[in-house]
This record gives sequence, C-alpha cells and structure tokens, in this order.
Amino acid sequence: MRALVAGNWKMNGTPASLGELEALKQALAAPACDVLVCPPATLIAQAAWHVKGAFALGGQDCHAEPKGAFTGDLSAEMLRDAGASFVILGHSERRQYHGESNAHVAAKARAAWRAGLKAIICIGESEAQRNAGEAPHICQGQLNESVPPEATSANSVIAYEPVWAIGTGRTPTSDDIAAMHSHIRACLVSRLGAAGEGMLILYGGSVNPGNAAEILGLPEVGGALVGGASLKAADFLKIIAAVKA
Ligand code: PGA
Repeated sequence: MRALVAGNWKMNGTPASLGELEALKQALAAPACDVLVCPPATLIAQAAWHVKGAFALGGQDCHAEPKGAFTGDLSAEMLRDAGASFVILGHSERRQYHGESNAHVAAKARAAWRAGLKAIICIGESEAQRNAGEAPHICQGQLNESVPPEATSANSVIAYEPVWAIGTGRTPTSDDIAAMHSHIRACLVSRLGAAGEGMLILYGGSVNPGNAAEILGLPEVGGALVGGASLKAADFLKIIAAVKA
C-alpha cells in the first residue's frame, strides 16, 4: 500500500490560503506517497478547482445522515460533491469538544463509505492514560468500537494520534510509536482478518520537517496526519519528501 501524507488544516484558511495549495501543486513532482489536504469545508470546492486532481482533498468531519434538519452540519455526500475523496473522522478535537463517541464515529464511517469517501478514523490516548500504562488498551477499545467490521484497506485508514502530542511539539519516542503501530496492526488483523493487514496506519501529533523522516521510516507507519506543519506548502512538502520511495 502506498503511504499517505495528509494535512489537516483544522479551523484555519481563507481563500487567500489557496495560494499554499497552488504552491504545493506546482512543487509536487512524482511524490513517493499519496498526498491529501483537508482544508475547512468552505474551501473544498474552490480548492478542487485549483488542485485539479494533483492531490486529494478531504473533509474534517461529516454527519452520519445524508441530509436533513441538522443545522450547521455537512453530510458526506456534500463533501463528495464539493470535491472531497476522504474525510477525517473521530479526531480527538471532535471527540473532546463535540462529545463524539466511538459509536458516532462508526456511524460517520458508514456515511463516508455510503458517499464514496475514504474514512480516516482517528484514535489515540490522553496523557493520563499513557502514564497509567493504558494506551494499548484504550486504543484497542477505540478501534473495536469506532471502526465498523466492514472496514477494508480500500475504504478506511487509521490515524494513531496520541492526544498529548497534538499541537504540543511533543512526540512519543520512536520505540513507543513503533510499539503502538504494531499493536494497532495486531488489533486490526485479529478483528478484520485479511482486510486489516493492508490498512494504512498513519501517525499524527507534532509531525514536522525535522522529525518526519524518522517517524515515517518506522515499521507499520504508513504515513502521517499533519496539523500545524501542513499549513505552509514549504513545510508540508518537506514532510512529503521524507517518505522513502
Ligand atoms: P499537529 O496536529 O500536527 O498540529 O500536532 C495533528 C492533528 O491534529 O491531526
């Protein structure tokens, strides 16, 4: 499976930011991985016009229903229609600030597939959970409950994002990342069988141009989900370039 480097712009970006996508498009010459940017939903349609398929675009969340009286929400079908081919689901900021449970995330994953989007399902432990030695157990529970049993490598990607590493400049040690990714792989295979073998497992949390090569070179790390360092094309390109062919 080709690696994936995905940028999550979170609540950042105006039409002026489309220049960063133009710069990314101009500089992307035969990358060794697939590339995805998830701008705010307000920019997806304009971004699709600029990017013209040079790399993929995605949403940062979707509702489980295809349409209806859900003020402020967007359906997976709407994202697809705007030009998205992926959607990030169950990001820790959604779980924390919007009370999203594993069951919500699983329903959203099914919605993504219904609309033809690939789901990037996020899991990860808090600092207290890690300090208590509970990280493997917590992540296994999140996988069991947020990844529906019909998940395959064709319709889903897992993103392991330790909550305490997001936006903090702190990352787990390489040994810790490798151990968690190997644990996640074992959980996926025991639950999904062959479908769990090829599923990409991204690492996310303070990935930057300085640490990308080491992290992306670890066993079972199939790419990165990048927040802050994806906002500037120059930084994001360095992370993409860190993927070994
Ligand atoms: P960060 O965010 O790279 O800014 O730590 C990662 C994420 O939240 O996906």
